Amino acid sequence: YFIILLTWILALSHLCLLYSPDLREIVFIIQSQNNSFHVRQADKRRADLLKQAQGLTKKPPVVLLLHSLSHNEGDWSILPLLPYLSYSFGKNSSWIVFLEEETNVKMNTLIQVLAKFDKNKDWFLGKPLHDEESTIIHHYAFAENPSIFKYPDFAAAWALSIPLVVRLANKVRDEPLKSDFTIDLKHEVALYIWDSGKGPDLTAVPELCTEPENSPQALYCATTLSSEPPLTRSLLDVKPCIGFFLPFALVPVIKKTWEKDALFLEYYSDHADPTIPTINLGVPNTERGHCGKTFAILQRFLSSAVPNTKWLLIVDDDTLISIPRLQVLLSCYDPSEPVCLGERYGYGLSQGGYSYITGGGGMVFSREAVVRLLNSGCKCYSNDAPDDMVLGMCLNALGLPVTHSPLFHQARPEDYARDFLAHQVPISFHKHWNIDPIAVFNKWLKDDLRANPSDGLNKSTKTEL
Ligand SMILES: *[C@@H]1O[C@H](CO)[C@@H](O)[C@H](O)[C@H]1NC(C)=O
Ligand SMILES: *[C@@H]1O[C@H](CO)[C@@H](O)[C@H](O)[C@H]1NC(C)=O
Ligand SMILES: *[C@@H]1O[C@H](CO)[C@@H](O)[C@H](O)[C@H]1NC(C)=O
Repeated sequence: YFIILLTWILALSHLCLLYSPDLREIVFIIQSQNNSFHVRQADKRRADLLKQAQGLTKKPPVVLLLHSLSHNEGDWSILPLLPYLSYSFGKNSSWIVFLEEETNVKMNTLIQVLAKFDKNKDWFLGKPLHDEESTIIHHYAFAENPSIFKYPDFAAAWALSIPLVVRLANKVRDEPLKSDFTIDLKHEVALYIWDSGKGPDLTAVPELCTEPENSPQALYCATTLSSEPPLTRSLLDVKPCIGFFLPFALVPVIKKTWEKDALFLEYYSDHADPTIPTINLGVPNTERGHCGKTFAILQRFLSSAVPNTKWLLIVDDDTLISIPRLQVLLSCYDPSEPVCLGERYGYGLSQGGYSYITGGGGMVFSREAVVRLLNSGCKCYSNDAPDDMVLGMCLNALGLPVTHSPLFHQARPEDYARDFLAHQVPISFHKHWNIDPIAVFNKWLKDDLRANPSDGLNKSTKTEL
């Protein structure tokens, strides 16, 4: 009886191999970024994919790093890249699999999972996320029933069948991409593919997972989140600055939440107030924009009026941020490089636009980035220009990359999918609208590190960062 069963299992596994796609039919694209730390991470991921493939086949699959495909700033938004993908792989491949640097792939399982789908049809595969309530970051889409629309969690990897890539590429060629702003790429990509019902929905693939790779739940997963050795907590001096000071009522929130974690902190306003205290930068307060003030902060950062630190953080007065987590994250980056870090948005990316770090989630600059920005002579076209977008234009003109971290958030926790937040240790949130900011800080951003400061963040926290 056992022997028969075993033979059956063997026969079945052979069947699987028989129908599984050739690894050469799968093109892997790592959603990599042009920054030395991220390039190292992406190279490691690529090496792992090729090593696994070597054990399965003589001919390695194509593994591409997104940031190195061209010098086009908009490539990270994927859609402008579709014509290239269709042209290069439309004839000789079956699947394009997108993954992030920290997406761990079990090659064997992934091949078997893809084999379940007819490669001659349109497929958009992934781990679905959905909104609980309509949210500003998705332009309040599907306001009547936000949870009906599914979009992929990029961390679990996502895949397009080649027939779909070819069709989408034709669409991109025929009608130029419309959207001005790229805010939450995964949602925007899903909307574009769905095409008001003319295209496919996201098909949920349970084997595409975001569990940590060693967790028992990950047994049947084709993808997991890598559990790299924990980051070492290095000695850092972060210099956070609070810019743009509007309602004074918000200061008590900062004082009760993250102020004490900052090594050096200044509040800026259009007049000096010794009770906070604030510093007058000599730039009038503006209703919107704040570009003038932000450039004054950049200049002050390089001046002898403040301690010489490696990093500058600029946030709004209604940003909630975890300074200890930011310090751990920054230990990955080299402050002697021009680093500009935060939540990346895009403007007009499909027509030669630019990327920028959205201000509300917090903008982090290395000293070198500030030096280059100011030396370039780039400046505000008016004091009330949107500071984050002007900085993005300046960086773009200088050819300096904007580095994205999904741990920074331009909106409130309720504006993001629950399953998306579930596998991250967030660094910031923004806006106090309809929430109790202190409760949000305590729930999402507070670590009780002071109890055991030498211990730092615990292992799971470090891993995620
Ligand atoms: C990456 O960024 C550097 C500047 O830091 C730039 O010189 C280089 O051209 C960029 N590489 C790509 C592929 O865009
Ligand atoms: C398909 O073509 C591209 C270039 O057009 C090449 O890089 C890739 O290796 C080819 N893949 C296969 C499986 O032949
Ligand atoms: C530390 O890890 C445990 C799970 O192992 C978790 O419940 C706890 O919240 C973590 N603490 C911090 C400070 O992240």
